[in-house]
Amino acid sequence: MSTIKRFSISLDNALLEKFKRKIMTKGYANRSQAMADLIRKSLVNIEWDASQGEVIGTVTLVYNHHRKDIVNQLVSLQHQFHQGILATTHIHMDKENCLEVLVVKGKAKKIREVYNQLGRLKGIKFSDLSTATTGRHLT
Ligand code: NI
Repeated sequence: MSTIKRFSISLDNALLEKFKRKIMTKGYANRSQAMADLIRKSLVNIEWDASQGEVIGTVTLVYNHHRKDIVNQLVSLQHQFHQGILATTHIHMDKENCLEVLVVKGKAKKIREVYNQLGRLKGIKFSDLSTATTGRHLT
């Protein structure tokens, strides 16, 4: 059984106020719960990157499909990394913007490399890599 340890941290007041406002909208019961969640997420990120085995996650991309050549470049890059992309979902957000989510699996270093290449394409408006885990060893 884990024990609870109390500790104090020093934060910039504006940052703390922003944090307090944000956690209210997330439905956390208190700041401790919100902080524990952030720490777990950060630990997952670190362990994901350090893992020698296969890891899993998702890449989210938003882009304007009218932008010259972006669709061809995206498809071409995804085909180069076809072994690591398990699934893709494409949603037409509006007349010009597309949202694409890729489920990726493989070595963390390779996934980061592909993610960086995708995110650097001209016309990408938003990119995010979500590192997933079962969280079995995190309480
Ligand atoms: Ni689209």
